[in-house]
Amino acid sequence: MCGIVGYVGERRAAPVILDGLRRLEYRGYDSAGLAVLAADQVQTIRRVGHVAALAAAVPGDLAGTTAIGHTRWATHGGVTESNAHPHLDSTNRIALAHNGIIENHTGLRARLEEEGVTFRSDTDTEVLVHLVRKFYDGDPEAAVRHALGLIQGTYGVAVIFWDHPGVIIAARNGSPLVVGKGNGETFLASDPHALSAHTREVVYLEDRDIARIDARGWSISRMDGGGVSRVVEVLGEEWEDEGRGDYSHHMLKEIHEQPESLARCLRGRVVPDQGGARLGGLDLTPRDIAGIRHITVLGCGTSFHAGLVGAAAMEGLARIPASAEIASEFRYRNPVIGPDDLFLAVSQSGETADTLGAVKEVQVKGGKVLGVVNVVGSSIARVCGHGVYVHSGPEIAVASTKAFTSQVAALLVASLSFARTRVLGPHEGKVFGEELLAVPERVGEWLASEPSSLHDAVELCTKGKFVFFLGRGVSHAVALEGALKLKEVAYVPCMAYPAAEMKHGPIALIDRNTPVIVVIPDDVMRDKTLSTIQEVRARGARVIAIHTAGDSACAKLADVSIPVPRASPLITPLLSVLPLQLLAYRAGLALGRDIDRPRNLAKSVTVE
Ligand code: F6R
Repeated sequence: MCGIVGYVGERRAAPVILDGLRRLEYRGYDSAGLAVLAADQVQTIRRVGHVAALAAAVPGDLAGTTAIGHTRWATHGGVTESNAHPHLDSTNRIALAHNGIIENHTGLRARLEEEGVTFRSDTDTEVLVHLVRKFYDGDPEAAVRHALGLIQGTYGVAVIFWDHPGVIIAARNGSPLVVGKGNGETFLASDPHALSAHTREVVYLEDRDIARIDARGWSISRMDGGGVSRVVEVLGEEWEDEGRGDYSHHMLKEIHEQPESLARCLRGRVVPDQGGARLGGLDLTPRDIAGIRHITVLGCGTSFHAGLVGAAAMEGLARIPASAEIASEFRYRNPVIGPDDLFLAVSQSGETADTLGAVKEVQVKGGKVLGVVNVVGSSIARVCGHGVYVHSGPEIAVASTKAFTSQVAALLVASLSFARTRVLGPHEGKVFGEELLAVPERVGEWLASEPSSLHDAVELCTKGKFVFFLGRGVSHAVALEGALKLKEVAYVPCMAYPAAEMKHGPIALIDRNTPVIVVIPDDVMRDKTLSTIQEVRARGARVIAIHTAGDSACAKLADVSIPVPRASPLITPLLSVLPLQLLAYRAGLALGRDIDRPRNLAKSVTVE
């Protein structure tokens, strides 16, 4: 969601902060701001819009070697300059940037107003800076600790004080913060991505940690006052910033990276010779796997859609009863968790608050939960302790593409491993494993020869008032994913349905020329889905079929035919999702949307 960056050292801080904010902008981009400490003064500059607008407003010679910055995704209060962070206390001498939500801000605000404080924003955050000011008696850490003691909710905060040049106080509870070690300089960020240009040595703050940061390093203590030391970790190469290369957008680049990201996810894990798969990170013995009674895959948005495919594979291939559930719903329904149940938490960012909440709910009830995560060292990966990294590499575009296919691939590998332990013979395991290993190349081939019919599909979808996406089984998950992409990138109203459900109501929406995208691989449901195509065509729909190459009957029936390579049913999502990713991209482009940073969205959703 929002992003925080901080710097203390000998360099001019503003360019470092702006560079960090640019790298974090994908997390939130309503507005941005920075506060720089120079000559005992806190100077704040904030702007509505992208970081570029802020950069244009920052004087090139802005002095000061201690600073904090923030890029915002609005929760409390509209997108205005006064609501942008950092916020200042009434004397303009303390600046504070905050990620998260202060749930009891209304009561705190009323009390502060009674005491004479005048608020300058509509945010929940502003109460915090006034509280820090109220408790400040020369000890910055004590004041922040005291103020946070009154807060209910989540926070990652960074605070600077006019009379403590060279010091940042940072604290975390539910909203990540990482401190980076430089040479005579120290960095702070809500996401290691912001630090990768400066340092690889980082320390992740844990919930209820408070850190005093200066140019020489940091000291960390617990909110209750106890001392603590945290291990310095070294960021892996995946954090290297590769930019957009020759691609016009990160989304297009990430779509085209899928052959490599999939290969990375599968490499060394699928072992065709043994007809199985190796996933050491899961920390499950064959006996543990044999004893699993039920698997629930948890996730949100795209990760939930990958989870639907994963659950189908766990049941279809490994014969373990399995389901997928939206994490935000799961965590509040007081789920029954048995001793032999297994939970898989799927998340690209590893920071999604709803998924993290679901993980904690499982753990509170003594259940076993493993992460299926992209970002190494992220909160979900750390809280789970064990799991699978999907290794798709940094995903910068807000719309998830390569993470989806890697999540599906990782879940298929886990299903193969469980299947081999429980029910699958070596031959069937080998066949499935070899087919999986061949997927990256087939994805590359398809992307290299994108069918021209995709342009007709884009035209139909951008002209239609409403688009239906239909599919059955795992293809329903693909339909859901295609619809989500088209909504978020092109803002085209659309809806995904299991194809057979159409006749139970939604078919009433079909009108002359309504575009209906049908994901129809050549599997056991093909003939039944063909009947649905007939039914919607009979009512005037224009059908775009994503079908198996060579299925001429399907191609003939559709108005627009988009063939994808033949694959085993559980593997089809890795191929049939490709045209839907590109369709959303091209539709967004045709409609002039901000492809990598669609309106109202943020990359990692760290608030409930
Ligand atoms: C859609 C999208 C979101 C995320 C969802 C979960 O393109 O990116 O729906 O999939 O917010 O995020 P992660 O996977 O980071 O938990």
